[in-house]
Amino acid sequence: MTKRILVTGGAGFIGSHLVDALVAQGHRVDVIDNLEPQVHKAKPDYLNAKAHYAFQDVRDPDLFDGALGDVEVVVHLAAMVGVGQSMYQVTRYVDANVGGTARLLQALVEWKHGVKKLLVASSMSIYGEGAYTCPTHGPVAPPLRDAAQLARKDWGTHCPDCGTSLAPVATPETKPLQTNSVYAVTKRDQEELCLITGRAYGIPTVALRFFNVYGPRQSLDNPYTGVAAIFQSRIKNGQPPVVFEDGDQSRDFVSVHDVVRSCLLAIEAGGADYRAVNVGTGTATSILDVAQVLLRLYRSPLRPSIENRFRAGDVRHCFADISLARRLLSYKPAISFGDGMRELVEWGQKTSARDGFTQAYDELNKKGLLEG
Ligand code: UD1
Repeated sequence: MTKRILVTGGAGFIGSHLVDALVAQGHRVDVIDNLEPQVHKAKPDYLNAKAHYAFQDVRDPDLFDGALGDVEVVVHLAAMVGVGQSMYQVTRYVDANVGGTARLLQALVEWKHGVKKLLVASSMSIYGEGAYTCPTHGPVAPPLRDAAQLARKDWGTHCPDCGTSLAPVATPETKPLQTNSVYAVTKRDQEELCLITGRAYGIPTVALRFFNVYGPRQSLDNPYTGVAAIFQSRIKNGQPPVVFEDGDQSRDFVSVHDVVRSCLLAIEAGGADYRAVNVGTGTATSILDVAQVLLRLYRSPLRPSIENRFRAGDVRHCFADISLARRLLSYKPAISFGDGMRELVEWGQKTSARDGFTQAYDELNKKGLLEG
């Protein structure tokens, strides 16, 4: 059935793909997006002509007042997304991510509306270190690696009881949260604010904990975005991808198309209402592998530059246990890492990329957020 759906951040990377899918399903889609200049050089040419756009900022105090009238579904994706940048732009991140969510919720509380579903984009970053197992002590949730360990360039995680090297395992939603960046705190806040308000007012709400999302339309101009996009713009500009630590750290890279599928399922089905659910692939890929696969696909003679330096707040490993999403939403990732990277490169080859990495790197360095 046709629904009226509001997508905040609907001109962005994930949002624009979701808007396309919702329009294709016949829904009426409204978008709020501020076309953040750090992400968009200009109005993107991929915007769906059948959606309705308001180019406004979720920080505008009155933005949502009266705007939710006959909206049935709200998907709240608008957010600032740079982990490193959040560590020195605290006000900007808290205002946009926590403040923007608060304004949306305030409007849901104060104004008459017919919203029957709220989705909010949460993030794996709220877990901090992923889940691990120790051969002697079984499952452990280790603390963040400390400065002395990192100064020795000992990048792995160790059992807090016996010091043995730990092996990463898939991270379930039950792992205690361990926020370790301003960005992560804002994502945890967004998730909890939405779930608490949703429960209190009977608005079925789902927090989707996205793992490392990649795919076409991820800004190649934004040096604060995810690693696959950063590496790609380096390679396109004839520069080697810069790999922090030793490159063995890993993440769960999930295609934007699978992420969109998870949103559609959470809109349609009620199984995950009032819950937080992981959205990843269940598979870990090392950062060095990402660099090498991209270099190969670009047929580049360059080699990754392995820095043996540490970016403040980074975790060693985190990949998703997706059994809850499978069970509650019948979610099943459909795009393999290889196919997803090929699609990414096909798109990247046709897209211009400004390499702002050096500037971002210098900024981290100056602020003492790169160690070693
Ligand atoms: C990323 C996103 C975060 C999102 C989360 C879950 C960014 C900046 N972070 O966090 O918004 O919530 O996924 O989807 O988009 N690395 C390099 N070289 C680089 C850049 C990164 O080696 O040039 C390494 C990092 O040190 C880290 C790994 O790559 O070990 C992943 O980094 P990043 O892409 O920033 O992702 P997360 O921090 O996992």
